[in-house]
Amino acid sequence: MLPKKHIGIFDSGIGGLTVLKEIRELLPQYDYIYLGDNARAPYGTRSFEVVHEYTLQAVKRLFELDCDLIVIACNTASAKALRQIQQTYLKDWESEKRVLGVIRPTTELAGELSSTKEIGILGTSGTVSSNSYQVEINKFHPAVKVHQQACPLWVPLIENQEYDTEGGRYFIKRYVDELMATGNIDTIILACTHYPIIEDLIKEYLPKEVQLISQGKIVAERLQNYLERHQWLENKLTKKGSIHYLTTENPSLFDEKSSLFLGQEVQSELMHW
Ligand code: DGL
Repeated sequence: MLPKKHIGIFDSGIGGLTVLKEIRELLPQYDYIYLGDNARAPYGTRSFEVVHEYTLQAVKRLFELDCDLIVIACNTASAKALRQIQQTYLKDWESEKRVLGVIRPTTELAGELSSTKEIGILGTSGTVSSNSYQVEINKFHPAVKVHQQACPLWVPLIENQEYDTEGGRYFIKRYVDELMATGNIDTIILACTHYPIIEDLIKEYLPKEVQLISQGKIVAERLQNYLERHQWLENKLTKKGSIHYLTTENPSLFDEKSSLFLGQEVQSELMHW
């Protein structure tokens, strides 16, 4: 039997499940491997060099596991490592494989969504300091003003399921208020794949007319379009509709958090580097 050719989905932890969920809803026919580097999450406060090293390690491993197409479902890793991986590692060694991120698909659309032409970005410290959203949005929509707010405590609150507590809500409101005070924002991008998990809480602290954009659907639609345009790659992918979860932390921890979050049973395996 020929080996399966999977689509690899990578995140620092459980956040990428928000993207995986939408991708599998739109493209259920493919075989997927989800890799969460839970042992080393969060990535958001780590340096450029460290995020690059961890992400490259994950990409190489997913290639070894027969993923010829990888989606880095993590804004921090997309912001800090994707370009370099595409321009160096992939170019020199892996011309038959592809690695995609989550920032480009979101920024292409962003400018069309705002009437005030002022967009807010909520992301990790790493994503915000990389300035990737500002640069990418302005490439497509030069007239749009981009306001950014780092939310360093949100990922730990989500990973530890402490968000719907008095302390958790305090920090959700605080970052939302700080962002909204910077301008006439009518559209906010959740620029971290963990944040859709607290989307309803974020909305509680936003004026009704502000629209909140999650990336999952956008990334899924862009992936579908990418596969239509790259038939040589699409033809290689096997279509048995399977999913395997790998984690670098204790699998029972991953399974508990992920099952709660996805609303379905998840059984992961431990992956050693
Ligand atoms: N979910 C990831 C992101 O989109 C990373 C969060 C983290 O590890 O800090 O940025």
